[in-house]
Amino acid sequence: MILVTGATGRPGSAVIREFVRHGDPVRALVRTPAKAAELQALPVVDVVVGDMLRPDSLSAALEGVDRVLMISGAGPDMLETQCTFIDAAKRAGVGRIVKFSGDDHFTGWDAEKFRSTRNHEQVQRYLLASGVPWTVLRPSQFMEAYFEEVPDIVARGELRLPLGEAALVPIAIDDIASIAHSVLTGDGHEYTTYRMSGPQALTGAGVAADIAAAIDRPVRYVDVAPQTKRSEWLGRGYPPPRADAFVELFDERRKLGTAKVNVATHRRFGIEPTTFHEFAARHAAVFRGERAYRSAAA
Ligand SMILES: NC(=O)c1ccc[n+]([C@@H]2O[C@H](COP(=O)([O-])OP(=O)(O)OC[C@H]3O[C@@H](n4cnc5c(N)ncnc54)[C@H](OP(=O)(O)O)[C@@H]3O)[C@@H](O)[C@H]2O)c1
Repeated sequence: MILVTGATGRPGSAVIREFVRHGDPVRALVRTPAKAAELQALPVVDVVVGDMLRPDSLSAALEGVDRVLMISGAGPDMLETQCTFIDAAKRAGVGRIVKFSGDDHFTGWDAEKFRSTRNHEQVQRYLLASGVPWTVLRPSQFMEAYFEEVPDIVARGELRLPLGEAALVPIAIDDIASIAHSVLTGDGHEYTTYRMSGPQALTGAGVAADIAAAIDRPVRYVDVAPQTKRSEWLGRGYPPPRADAFVELFDERRKLGTAKVNVATHRRFGIEPTTFHEFAARHAAVFRGERAYRSAAA
């Protein structure tokens, strides 16, 4: 059996949908039963309730599990959450843990510099030392991260980010989900790190142009000062540690310039990389404010 944690979240739910699309059985770990109705309705999905921070709650989830995709939120408790979970999975005899990590794909990027990216490195070191066979997935910024900017796109026709002229290489979560499905169901992926990005380096202006084309309305990129954006994020309900983490991250991104495209993993698994243009067109209703999106701000 294959277990996916974080199954109610953005990447986790996309991976579950990919299993459903293939008709492959999968178990979904859910911490908050109230969020599980959508998953419960899907065929081939075995929904199990448990908390990765409470090993005693994980017996049913881990029973008979050979492979796990380990995802939890990027908040300050990620290190403890995932290390606790690795211990529980090891005790239960899990044969491989696929860690969902991240990567900014800049030359000179130092993941140890920031709490959230450092925590991924720390979890990876813990996983490697655990002796459990592993795989690491390292996607770039999600294209879905731009859904967070829908309120300004709709109200002001502006994409307001403290990004300067830097270019990022965002990737569609559905591409990551297809790759994760192949890695989880296939053999020979032990002790391998798969880095992956979207197919283009895009500045804020480039992203704004693709969104404008998709929604057929003008969208202007505005390079806002980091502290201005911090206030705007707080106004939208981001907890201060999350707003602060983003300000640090964007500060570094604007210094480092242009991130590097890496679609070798897409090619390795025969997946055509989704362009931002295609992504924006597919989600035009979200960018127009006509359809809700799943926010990671809470
Ligand atoms: N945002 C990006 O652009 C980006 C890019 C690359 C990598 N990443 C990485 O992607 C990962 C997911 O981030 P996200 O913001 O997309 O997450 P998300 O949608 O908020 O999903 C997180 C999931 O983890 C679950 N979870 C958290 N703590 C748990 C616990 N103790 N026990 C069981 N389940 C728990 C949450 O359950 P509840 O619903 O109950 O809270 C939720 O289902 C993070 O590691 C992040 O660093 C993000």
